[in-house]
Amino acid sequence: MERIQMALEKARAKRTGSAGTKPAAHDPAEPAGPTAANADAPAPAAPSQTAATPARTPPAPPDAPRPAASSANVAEIAPEIRARWEALPAFTPKPALMASNRIIGYAGGRDAGPVDMMRTRILQEMRKNGWRRLAVTSPNPGCGKTTTCLNLAFSLGRQANQRTVLADLDMRRPGLARMLGLQPPHRFAQVIAGKAPARDHMARYGTNLAFGTLDAPARNPAELLQGAEIGPALAQIETDYAVTMMVFDMPPMMMSDDMMAFAPHVDCVLLLAGAETTALDDLDRCERELAGVTNVLGVVLNKCRYMEPGYGYGYY
Ligand SMILES: Nc1ncnc2c1ncn2[C@@H]1O[C@H](COP(=O)(O)OP(=O)(O)O)[C@@H](O)[C@H]1O
Ligand SMILES: [Mg+2]
Repeated sequence: MERIQMALEKARAKRTGSAGTKPAAHDPAEPAGPTAANADAPAPAAPSQTAATPARTPPAPPDAPRPAASSANVAEIAPEIRARWEALPAFTPKPALMASNRIIGYAGGRDAGPVDMMRTRILQEMRKNGWRRLAVTSPNPGCGKTTTCLNLAFSLGRQANQRTVLADLDMRRPGLARMLGLQPPHRFAQVIAGKAPARDHMARYGTNLAFGTLDAPARNPAELLQGAEIGPALAQIETDYAVTMMVFDMPPMMMSDDMMAFAPHVDCVLLLAGAETTALDDLDRCERELAGVTNVLGVVLNKCRYMEPGYGYGYY
């Protein structure tokens, strides 16, 4: 099976070898990512296939009625909602840990440019369709889901009119708390099981970003994700915190059925591929499976060594 990185190398060799063909300033078929010099840097390129993936009609919500999407400014929200945000335990990650974990969205500024581009495109697409719940998955492990979720979350957090919740639903191998350096023994699994309120298992960064984490793997992820409690629990969080975007850090699709089981609860999915680890066939299969049950917002090629000069990280 062909790895994506090899496919890109072949395509590049073919293009540069074809005399007189001026490479396009930006080939939409080729996703942005880090230059070779920045191959180790986070490369959450803008979703590369968004335009190519026709949006499906959003699946009927499987759960309790969901509050209408609101774009109200954070300063304008009801006092009781502001009070709920303020009541969440505050947490500030260590900048050095964020840098070593490639969370470039944390500090913002020029380095966060590629992440902010991804955020903007995701927001545009989701707003256009009235979507608010986004799952991030990949065919195989280690493609950068948790890294990308965190980059996206911090980038959203820098927008005052957003209220974002990022939840770790990779319950077999939770990674969010570790990557953030978040110590409290939070078990977001208890929340989706309907056994505890979200405030007991979420931490807040700034005024408008919250993390639902797991300090250990959950015992029964499949049952939790398919349980009757998860729908109402998510709807409750959206209502209580006037959430504008919920991001779910999901398990890889080839390791379990968790993503497919949870798909009815989200509006759309971002599918990540690792340039040197994901096989094209697997990516294709996962994309087709997801498209059968939800909206595939786009495919992000991560850890990519090749890109056109002038895009993504290379721009800076
Ligand atoms: N663009 C990237 N370039 C280099 N390394 C990356 C990139 N994105 C993620 N990584 C690294 O890959 C490893 C796996 O990332 P992680 O986000 O935990 O993947 P997943 O959640 O899909 O298992 C981590 O060490 C992370 O720092
Ligand atoms: Mg992960």
